[in-house]
Amino acid sequence: MTKPKILVQLDGDEHASIFDAVVAVDAEIDHLLQYHSVEAGQVRDLVHGAMFTRGPQDLHNTAIFIGGANVSHGESLLRTATGCFFGPMRVSVMLDANGANTTAAAAVLAAARHVDLAQSEALVLAGTGPVGQRVVRLLARAGCKVRVASRSADRASVTCEQVRAIVAGAMLTPLATSNASETAVALDGVNIVIAAGAAGIELLSAETRAACSSLRVAVDLNAVPPLGIGGVAVTDKAVELAGVICYGAIGVGGTKMKIHTAALKKLFTVNNLVLDAEEIYEIGRELESGS
Ligand SMILES: NC(=O)c1ccc[n+]([C@@H]2O[C@H](COP(=O)([O-])OP(=O)(O)OC[C@H]3O[C@@H](n4cnc5c(N)ncnc54)[C@H](OP(=O)(O)O)[C@@H]3O)[C@@H](O)[C@H]2O)c1
Repeated sequence: MTKPKILVQLDGDEHASIFDAVVAVDAEIDHLLQYHSVEAGQVRDLVHGAMFTRGPQDLHNTAIFIGGANVSHGESLLRTATGCFFGPMRVSVMLDANGANTTAAAAVLAAARHVDLAQSEALVLAGTGPVGQRVVRLLARAGCKVRVASRSADRASVTCEQVRAIVAGAMLTPLATSNASETAVALDGVNIVIAAGAAGIELLSAETRAACSSLRVAVDLNAVPPLGIGGVAVTDKAVELAGVICYGAIGVGGTKMKIHTAALKKLFTVNNLVLDAEEIYEIGRELESGS
């Protein structure tokens, strides 16, 4: 008899994310076991409970989802969880703390619909944040040249070093964009801009955007007014604005939700998946190609 599908939600926050729980239910998980305020030191016993209760032939019906607002903490939980596995005694795991992997994947996929990433140069505004860092990483992995922008040149440089440690040969340039003129210089010559700034902060004005003749795609991930890119509406989805294809946060959100759901379903196909940024992006590519 097929065992029911059990998803173990490990969340570092005081309350395990309701958003992640709803997506799990919509992905037709049979049982959701939620754990909140999870620390790395507690992960081993939780993971052992998940991997020692069913035989190896049934372990593809148990999986772990790691969430919570803090992406670094989520990464630490993921490292600890995967470190518990050995031989066939393992279950599939997905990391999507702060929605960072699914959101970044959807943003990069939006750009990839319109330009060849390997032949492109992109500016990632607020490329230092949890979502921005993943956007930089996915673009770099696709062979795109990336300008990583922050209010602080030092923070931009740190992000570039962190991404280079993960993506060998990544073509990254750190830049400070603490005012409009620095942002205009940073934008000059790129064909993709992705704004991954904090909610309610405009990072690129409509005037500066309109003055950039090389720009082909603009993606804004901030859904809270004022939006991140002037003139790009929150619901824009491949809307053309004076020759630039625009996506707003809600325009990207539909793809993000499809990727999240598809990734959860994929967890239950085998027991050895580890779904982080690149694997989740690949699931998005498969959805786009219909395979
Ligand atoms: N659609 C979705 O499901 C979804 C999911 C997750 C996130 N999001 C959205 O994606 C965006 C990025 O998320 P996140 O969690 O990575 O954001 P975040 O951590 O709140 O902020 C990202 C970056 O924004 C910059 N920033 C912060 N305050 C600023 C200010 N006052 N002025 C200018 N820049 C400022 C900072 O970069 P520097 O300090 O280096 O300048 C920070 O690292 C947010 O708008 C978020 O709401 C959407």
